[in-house]
Amino acid sequence: MLHSRRILLIISGGIAAYKALDLIRRLRERGATVRCILTAGAQQFITPLSAAALSGEKAYTDLFSLTDESEMGHLRLAQESDLLVVAPASADILAKMAGGIADDLAATALLATDKPILVAPAMNFRMWGHQATQDNLARLAARGVRRVGPNAGPLAENESGMGRMAEPLEIVDAIEKIFAADALLSGRRALITSGPTQEPIDPVRYIANRSSGRQGHAIAAALARLGAECVLVSGPTNEPDPPGVKVVHIETAREMLAACEAVLPADIAVCAAAVADWRADAATAKLKKKAGAVPMLKLVENPDILATLAKAGNRRPKLVVGFAAETEDIVANAQAKRARKGCDWILANDVSPASGVFGGENNTIHLVDEHGVEDWPAMSKRDVGDRLARRIAVFFAPKAAE
Ligand code: C5P
Repeated sequence: MLHSRRILLIISGGIAAYKALDLIRRLRERGATVRCILTAGAQQFITPLSAAALSGEKAYTDLFSLTDESEMGHLRLAQESDLLVVAPASADILAKMAGGIADDLAATALLATDKPILVAPAMNFRMWGHQATQDNLARLAARGVRRVGPNAGPLAENESGMGRMAEPLEIVDAIEKIFAADALLSGRRALITSGPTQEPIDPVRYIANRSSGRQGHAIAAALARLGAECVLVSGPTNEPDPPGVKVVHIETAREMLAACEAVLPADIAVCAAAVADWRADAATAKLKKKAGAVPMLKLVENPDILATLAKAGNRRPKLVVGFAAETEDIVANAQAKRARKGCDWILANDVSPASGVFGGENNTIHLVDEHGVEDWPAMSKRDVGDRLARRIAVFFAPKAAE
């Protein structure tokens, strides 16, 4: 399965471009998000409209398009993907890749990325056999570019030989293998909390907070991508359940604690939920308005889920990670919190209104552990999830995750 994997599919010129359309469909069936770039050559065989219709995303063609740039900078196209796939990869685009040429959007994206690249060559058998092509492939392989195909068989112009693009399902298989090699946390069980909790005041009113659940959900999805078996215990949010993750929906802090305890034993616990510190001593019937009388709410302390998990004795997950949403003295407060709660790592972030973190797309993290503080640059919450998941993989298997 390719749940929540983002693939940038670069379609270059060749009759096999029509098979790239089927590849889009196959990838989406498996849960991947696919964005396409079509070279000028590709557009002689298929149209951006068909790629856009099948991918459900805008298809990109020009390097210097003002409208595209304002929506999605050309460098971001590659950065916001997990894998670049060139299918079909013509002799020409392979030569550009080998030579570091960046004269169109496709070649630029391929040069401006540190993400893995898979090529599915397709060309005439003489072009395939030419020493220039073979030299280019050898250079690309030495740089870590992966290849699937080509196969031998009938080619265009009634010829036959080596040069047919691998079939879409073979390409899908090759892609799945690349991601499977990334399953650094397979066999590990992870518990993640996310979202706010809602604490009833009476049957119709509640106390809550502004947590969107985006960060916690992104962490669960990222751990699942690395092969962990994830259970996400979430308060009410608008976030969709992450694919490949078991989600337990709860409302109150006490329900969240019970759901978390039911998940143990686990190897990893990441508490990203914004749990209400207090709950109201809730009324069983709706509070009535009475002229001149304002009801007093009596607040009772909620259980601290992070601290409870961190102090769970022999049921304690091996790695317990908490968050510290702070508005001032971020790192000092996080260090104190780490000691108080008994967790291993604290991810501290600035949630002052100016930071836009609460409910926003981005986050700036300071990871506090027993050794000190690691400052991460500002990045999307998805990238925070991926970076944390990799950091966790290093914790469990330093060598494998290198
Ligand atoms: O104490 P504070 O709310 O700042 O701590 C934040 C961290 O503790 C977060 O990881 C949050 O998920 C967790 N927490 C919890 N249960 C609570 C309060 C906070 O798990 N009742």
